[in-house]
Amino acid sequence: MAKLKVGVLISGRGSNLQALIDAASADDYPAEIVTVISNEPGAAGLERAAKAAIPTNVVDHRDFEGRETFEDALNDVLSAAAVELVCLAGFMRLVTDGFVGRWHDRLVNVHPSLLPAFKGLDVHERVVEAGVRFSGCTVHFLRPAMDEGPIIVQAAVPVRAGDDAPTLAARVLAEEHRIYPLALRLIAEGRVRVVEERVLITGAAAPEGVLINPAPV
Ligand code: GRF
Repeated sequence: MAKLKVGVLISGRGSNLQALIDAASADDYPAEIVTVISNEPGAAGLERAAKAAIPTNVVDHRDFEGRETFEDALNDVLSAAAVELVCLAGFMRLVTDGFVGRWHDRLVNVHPSLLPAFKGLDVHERVVEAGVRFSGCTVHFLRPAMDEGPIIVQAAVPVRAGDDAPTLAARVLAEEHRIYPLALRLIAEGRVRVVEERVLITGAAAPEGVLINPAPV
């Protein structure tokens, strides 16, 4: 079967991109990354893509008058690569409603909290400050409001007594690297449907006690 063609948008380190690259390197993985776009020319993730022989593009938002023209340039690259699904992976630009609409249910994001709690930036600082006992991460379809949209996969981690933002971030990041490739696989296998703004997944149920939901299949 043809693999789902994926474009990944990044701004920096690209560790989630790396997790997707590693997963997609397996012959039986149902998605392939056909282009990586960064709005930051110096993003380390660009080197990760290049190392994996994935075409890279820099579309620097500073070169454009407004968000729409910036996004037109993104769309040009995505169309040229025949991208079917867009993954945001540490992409630090807010996208317009127009961009979200164009990629409706084909635009996925990873966020380092258990949404809808702790949207926005500086998540781990705020989680530690709030004293909550669990945090985690979420892969979701994007909707116009920031960090909103139907949830595909979540993983939970404990917040430990001695945690600060960096220790918690590392624990959450390790889970991001598990659930993003999982979510992409579920989508590419055609198991994911959005019904009344909730995600229904066929054939991947989490056994009791598992802190990734749905469980890896
Ligand atoms: C991740 O924590 C992601 O959830 C957030 O930004 C960070 C990006 O890290 N949106 P990386 O560039 O994937 O390493």
